[in-house]
Amino acid sequence: MQIGCVQLLDFRNYRTLSYRPSGRLNLLTGRNAQGKTNALEAVGVLLTGRSFRTTRLAELPHWGAEAAVLTGELQRSEGTRAIRRVLQRRENGTWQASGESCPWARVIAFGWQDLAIVHGGPSARRAFIDGCAARLYPSHLPALLRYRRLLEQRNRMLQTRASAERLAPWDEQVATVGMEMIDRRRRAVAALHAELTRVYPAVSGEPQKVQIGYRSVVGEATEPAALVAALEQARPVELRRGQTLVGPHRDDLAIELDGVDARAFGSRGQQRLLALALRLAEVLPVTEAAGTAPVLLLDDALSELDPGVRDNALREIQAAEQVFLTSPEPLVVSGAARWVVEGGGIAAA
Ligand SMILES: Nc1ncnc2c1ncn2[C@@H]1O[C@H](COP(=O)(O)OP(=O)(O)O)[C@@H](O)[C@H]1O
Ligand SMILES: [Mg+2]
Repeated sequence: MQIGCVQLLDFRNYRTLSYRPSGRLNLLTGRNAQGKTNALEAVGVLLTGRSFRTTRLAELPHWGAEAAVLTGELQRSEGTRAIRRVLQRRENGTWQASGESCPWARVIAFGWQDLAIVHGGPSARRAFIDGCAARLYPSHLPALLRYRRLLEQRNRMLQTRASAERLAPWDEQVATVGMEMIDRRRRAVAALHAELTRVYPAVSGEPQKVQIGYRSVVGEATEPAALVAALEQARPVELRRGQTLVGPHRDDLAIELDGVDARAFGSRGQQRLLALALRLAEVLPVTEAAGTAPVLLLDDALSELDPGVRDNALREIQAAEQVFLTSPEPLVVSGAARWVVEGGGIAAA
């Protein structure tokens, strides 16, 4: 899929913008704080209703504005579709987003915060794999929200020191939804792994063996009963702490290069490269699942990479369909559309 045009009204530092990007690679350059990341964020919000860098809607409208409006046109081989999002301030001061999501619209975003997938704590890796699983399987996000609500309720029961009999039905529900989540995460990991073993060496230029695996409290088990058993075993400690301590909300990913944990491995450049490769590895599985290629939003994805690795990454990026790539300094790439971002405007370079 491609986004044919974007119109913004009062989004971040864009007061009004009308932008017609290329259907292939778009290079956005410009000095700091001019609106490069904001432009990518706008495309992501327009397509998915969510920002890849904040969960707080209130940050997105131009300061002092009562509303932000994003409109555009999506194109795929079967036809085009208009899309519109409105962020509006409610009377109580909170913000709400409205606008219908297009069922086949997918965005894969990369930004500096993705370094945390490689060197951060487990929650960054869980967020990564949940995002990926949600792009592959639309039922993942609702299940995730349901699981969180169940956990909150179960935690409240633990805090009141509920009896084993009263906890049992909650354990069953948590285990059923939890196991569904684990299953989709495992399938997402398997799909990513297959592509990652191709993408990472292609970009690094070295025949390194890269591995990503799912690490769960239930090991390789696939039945909810395994999670029920783990909950029962953890129960004495859980009652003391008033918290559910086992389940997918505590699972992790193992990411290894040549058998070494990537967290302990290599330079920042290598960690960035691995984070980028993880995002690029999503492109093919997401294309197959959605029936159309995702739009790539790559924020400053090539900085800190060696020149040869940069060229390899560009080749990989250009194999995707529509891409928005920002860079502080101009990049020379044949066939790419070049744009200069300045003071909340985008002009052809
Ligand atoms: N809600 C907002 N309203 C107006 N300006 C904003 C808002 N949020 C961020 N900005 C401004 O946007 C600019 C940063 O844009 P950004 O896209 O992050 O820059 P860069 O080109 O470096 O990626 C900063 O000048 C910041 O003050
Ligand atoms: Mg930026």
